Amino acid sequence: MEENNLAKSNLKSNLQPKDWRNGIKVLLSEEVIQKKIKELAEIISKDYYGKNPILVAVLKGSFIFIADLCRKLTIPVIFDFMAVSSYGDSMVSSGVVRITKDLDYSIENKDVLIIEDIIDSGRTLNYLVKNIKARNPKSIEICALLDKDVPGKFKNKIKYKGFDIPNKFVVGYGLDYAENYRNLPYIGYIENNF
Ligand code: PRP
Repeated sequence: MEENNLAKSNLKSNLQPKDWRNGIKVLLSEEVIQKKIKELAEIISKDYYGKNPILVAVLKGSFIFIADLCRKLTIPVIFDFMAVSSYGDSMVSSGVVRITKDLDYSIENKDVLIIEDIIDSGRTLNYLVKNIKARNPKSIEICALLDKDVPGKFKNKIKYKGFDIPNKFVVGYGLDYAENYRNLPYIGYIENNF
């Protein structure tokens, strides 16, 4: 079976409207997230004033974060998207990073701001930064909503960070478990016995 079909066969498709959020505890409420995004947008708008940066969102997880962040920016920005996968439908990283969708545009001599939903082991970001640097951008910085406290993680310089979070499996606000829960407006965590 091809990898994609295998992943699809593992999707949880039996979640019911009355109980699909059961077992998920709120870590960061919608209000807390939105307040932080406003703060981040103000700082980014100031730092990039007079520039026209490319926001490179890392799919799929960051689609909600970038949608909210970009509408609070007061500077002109360009969008591009990459999909980089290291988890599949498992709760544990496979350790292998692969590009499943590359950028549409050249970023040579452009100001690039990578938008990530979460930095877990840091492996994805480490790979991405190297990959993007090799394309000779004028500048490259990182904006990540969540930075998880994981022992021995890859070190990356995060200029714009939302929250440091504990080492829990989090879902919501773009983050999934087997592709579900991305549409929760808050960030929650799944207990071990989920
Ligand atoms: C998640 C997340 C980051 C990456 C972080 O993506 O969106 O890109 O994992 O993990 P790391 O720091 O351990 O590398 P995932 O591979 O789950 O894909 P998705 O965004 O499509 O859900």
